[in-house]
Amino acid sequence: MMKPPTSTPTSCLLLAPLAVLLLVFLLPSLHPRAGSDGLGALCAGSVDAAAAAAAAVAAAAPDTTSEPPKPEFSLLVGVLTVPSRRERRDIVRAAYALQPAARGARVDVRFVLCNVTDPVDAALVGVEARRHGDVLVLGCAENMNDGKTYAYLSSVPRLFAADPYDYVMKTDDDTYLRVAALADELRGKPRDDVYLGYGYAMGGQPMPFMHGMGYVVSWDVAAWVAGVGAEEILARNDTLGPEDLMVGKWLNLAGRGTNRYDLKPRMYDLNWFMDNFRPDTIAVHMLKTNQRWAATFRYFNVTAGINLSSSHMLP
Ligand SMILES: *[C@@H]1O[C@H](CO)[C@@H](O)[C@H](O)[C@H]1NC(C)=O
Ligand SMILES: *[C@@H]1O[C@H](CO)[C@@H](O)[C@H](O)[C@H]1NC(C)=O
Ligand SMILES: *[C@@H]1O[C@H](CO)[C@@H](O)[C@H](O)[C@H]1NC(C)=O
Ligand SMILES: *[C@@H]1O[C@H](CO)[C@@H](O)[C@H](O)[C@H]1NC(C)=O
Repeated sequence: MMKPPTSTPTSCLLLAPLAVLLLVFLLPSLHPRAGSDGLGALCAGSVDAAAAAAAAVAAAAPDTTSEPPKPEFSLLVGVLTVPSRRERRDIVRAAYALQPAARGARVDVRFVLCNVTDPVDAALVGVEARRHGDVLVLGCAENMNDGKTYAYLSSVPRLFAADPYDYVMKTDDDTYLRVAALADELRGKPRDDVYLGYGYAMGGQPMPFMHGMGYVVSWDVAAWVAGVGAEEILARNDTLGPEDLMVGKWLNLAGRGTNRYDLKPRMYDLNWFMDNFRPDTIAVHMLKTNQRWAATFRYFNVTAGINLSSSHMLP
């Protein structure tokens, strides 16, 4: 039987040469969730890893019988995490899944790990990846400030070459990101040469770099990191050091990411007293304990109407 030229195995073959460098677990969820409008509706029904990677988490179409409108832009959110933080990933996954969809945007959330060497971790992360289809494993050794961000930004353009995103975000598993609010910011921005986040003022400059709690670069910037930029970044050992500062340094030296946007004060650290939440939050960071996640869910009404003090079925 003839296969159409765009049949699913093609993209798998394209990815095959990368397998040595990049082990990618982007497996479809075994049980597509009932709701189709949340961020959790990842990869439902797809058996093709590449298609799964590109699976849309599109804005909810009010009329489910018609084709969803073509998204205005797409965003890949990479949540950098480590194998051992399984419980945190579970919380973060729920946090993304229970958000309202980003209007007019395709947003894919992936948990980003370096290669998983411990056999127990490997089995458990493998099962997690198979269950959720949202785990991206890069060919790096696990670290925070020794090049993981470089591994991420430089891998994404190759991994998703067949279906590029407009924007690529790096964030962490102690950040609560409100995707719809971020998408509203991105909608009217340029699609090229963008570097957006919490601008960190330093040395008389308003935003020489964006804080690691979460920043967005446009696809061309990631492609530059993966391509011609790689040589100069590696020659200077500029993958080593505080990752957010280093990304700023790469871009500053190369004159890249000149469309810079500072989202302060709508991106911020949660303070010790947990009393500085804002209704217009785009991202709140420093959610390093379950208590702080609980306060965040309460503030943003994620728990509204849930009553666990009597015996009844929850929705
Ligand atoms: C995985 O990590 C180990 C230990 O750091 C390293 O030796 C190995 O080369 C890595 N594998 C890949 C594919 O990067
Ligand atoms: C980069 O790091 C390597 C290994 O630590 C070292 O030999 C080299 O001199 C460094 N290069 C620069 C430009 O700092
Ligand atoms: C949460 O719900 C309350 C009550 O409806 C509302 O006043 C408040 O603005 C909501 N908070 C947020 C962050 O949307
Ligand atoms: C939870 O449900 C129980 C039993 O229906 C009720 O008595 C209680 O007031 C409810 N609590 C809240 C906070 O609504």
